[in-house]
Amino acid sequence: MSRRKKIYEGKAKILYEGPEPGTLVQYFKDDATAYNAEKKATIDGKGVLNNRLSEFFMKGLGQIGVPTHFIKRLNMREQLIRAAEIIPLEVIVRNFAAGSMARRLGMEEGTPLPRPIVEYSYKDDALGDPLVPEEYIVAFGWASQQDLDDIVALALRVNDYLSGVMYGVGIRLVDFKIEVGRIWEGDFMRLIVADEISPDSCRLWDIETGRKLDKDVFRRDLGDLADAYTEVARRLGVMPSNVTHPPTRPTPIN
Ligand code: TMP
Repeated sequence: MSRRKKIYEGKAKILYEGPEPGTLVQYFKDDATAYNAEKKATIDGKGVLNNRLSEFFMKGLGQIGVPTHFIKRLNMREQLIRAAEIIPLEVIVRNFAAGSMARRLGMEEGTPLPRPIVEYSYKDDALGDPLVPEEYIVAFGWASQQDLDDIVALALRVNDYLSGVMYGVGIRLVDFKIEVGRIWEGDFMRLIVADEISPDSCRLWDIETGRKLDKDVFRRDLGDLADAYTEVARRLGVMPSNVTHPPTRPTPIN
């Protein structure tokens, strides 16, 4: 059997050469890491759930005209994507204070923000993905000012879409991270949403109970991560039929 060429292996995903030029196969692992990989675990079924959930969100974005790298899901753990040149930034959108913003500013988690706030971390594991101002991004040539204007517009469209979809199933989108890539169509460069959109890269709180349904369950030892992700998938109607992790408890009726 011929082995596929591995292009890149990250903490939660592997990229393989795709079947055609300009494509890649994105494989979702069960590995979970937090605090810059100081905390690690394997969570049965996480990769399957994130493959499905990322497919769901990327397809939904495509349907409202937001360009993404997603082409099609190939199997339980893999999807075919467009190869893009990743801009080395974590683009973070926040609707409520939480995580590093709450710590940095001494705010209570869950405090509503006056408007969605977009911020950037420089993607560098060795440095712990430091927060960087636009000034650095433009000065160091990671993206132009025009790119940044387009990235903010893209990120806010993703925020509107994701907030609405989540609100529809009783979940508050507290914050999330996307990565943005460049693709070329002839002489034209386009920015597209890349990487993944999943509970690994969002903060999702149940609106009624405040229950955390995202990677904070793992970061903060709050229970079973696969259980939380399964609940998100179930509410969105994207629950795969043959995932091998414990069944979700029924949602209590209030
Ligand atoms: P933070 O509060 O730790 O800065 O994270 C904000 C949001 O961005 C949260 O939903 C987690 C997500 N995020 C990632 O998924 N990967 C990252 O490397 C960073 C910095 C944030």
